[in-house]
Amino acid sequence: ASAEKGGFSSFMEKEIHDQPDAVAQTLLGRSDINGKLTLDELRIDPALLKQVNKIIVLACGTAAYAGMVAKYAIENWCRIPTEVELAHEFRYRDPILDANTLVVSISQSGETMDTLMAVRYAREQGAKTISICNTNGSTIPRESDAVLYTHAGPEIAVASTKAFLAQITAAYLLGLYLAQLRGNIFSGQIKDVLADLNKIPAKIQKILDNAGPLRELARSMANEKSVLFLGRHVGYPVALEGALKLKEIAYIHAEGFAAGELKHGPIALIDDGQPVFVVVPSPRGRDSLHAKVVSNIQEVRARGARTLVIAEEGDEAVKAYAEYVFYVPETPTLLMPLLTTVPLQIFAAELAQAKGYDVDQPRNLAKSVTVE
Ligand code: G6P
Repeated sequence: ASAEKGGFSSFMEKEIHDQPDAVAQTLLGRSDINGKLTLDELRIDPALLKQVNKIIVLACGTAAYAGMVAKYAIENWCRIPTEVELAHEFRYRDPILDANTLVVSISQSGETMDTLMAVRYAREQGAKTISICNTNGSTIPRESDAVLYTHAGPEIAVASTKAFLAQITAAYLLGLYLAQLRGNIFSGQIKDVLADLNKIPAKIQKILDNAGPLRELARSMANEKSVLFLGRHVGYPVALEGALKLKEIAYIHAEGFAAGELKHGPIALIDDGQPVFVVVPSPRGRDSLHAKVVSNIQEVRARGARTLVIAEEGDEAVKAYAEYVFYVPETPTLLMPLLTTVPLQIFAAELAQAKGYDVDQPRNLAKSVTVE
């Protein structure tokens, strides 16, 4: 079994380390040297895709957080209104769908019953359906109009890691492809994003190589009862995913919040010693989001929180208010989740292993949930 795990202590650790490859493989062969997307596998008439006026992303669990990231990218690049919904909530609210609606489902296994039923329903209503999936020939892609496979390789650990990064990568490719088709952004801009995406695997590798102190921090926190995660913009789904990982494998109460929501409730939870992870936007980004999130760090710290910060290399401003900072390499804001998620996965895996838990087989959970 140790050989199957590639020398790692668990499949989850192996899969965390597989991530540079999972992203690289998902990008491979999907664009030409001129920076043009070539998603020939998407067997939907481009004329139909051009008419799409609304996108609905459907998924469960970690895949739904990939969907939240996708919304930011797709709306930015394609200017098509995009909703993300948990698949099991979707059918029950009489959603508004027609032939100009594109439903994008995201599923690692391709067998999640809630997601499958939502896709079936969407198809019955006449929507176009594209599946982003990691498992060849599984049910959801077979029942969709088209499929864009993630090439993360088989994911064995119940808690998803490499499939998540591959899902985000595939969603970016789909967003860029739709933008290209519809002429929403200049080809030069698409080329630039592709170039930035191609640099991601080496940047993930750098994060993996520099995780020693982060692992030490995780081991020192094995007795924590609750950990909070804050993020904003694309950092918000990352915060949710960081919290989910900790719940799933370390059985620690964890919540992710949109940082802007702090003052509307969650700040009441902050007490002496409460650990709070903060996923900080790039200081190079627009809209002063960086300054707002840095002031959130100050606010929770002033109330006694231990502030654990994920920030971009070169972001000196966070240092003054952080007990601990993990720096990720620079990348454009929309692509940041491919980097900022990784330290949170490592943190959860290391902490759970320090508690002696089997991270590959967490209690009460299944890899693929084939019941509604
Ligand atoms: C289960 C797994 C999660 C996963 C979710 C969706 O709950 O434990 O890790 O995110 O299903 O799975 P899917 O295969 O559809 O991505």
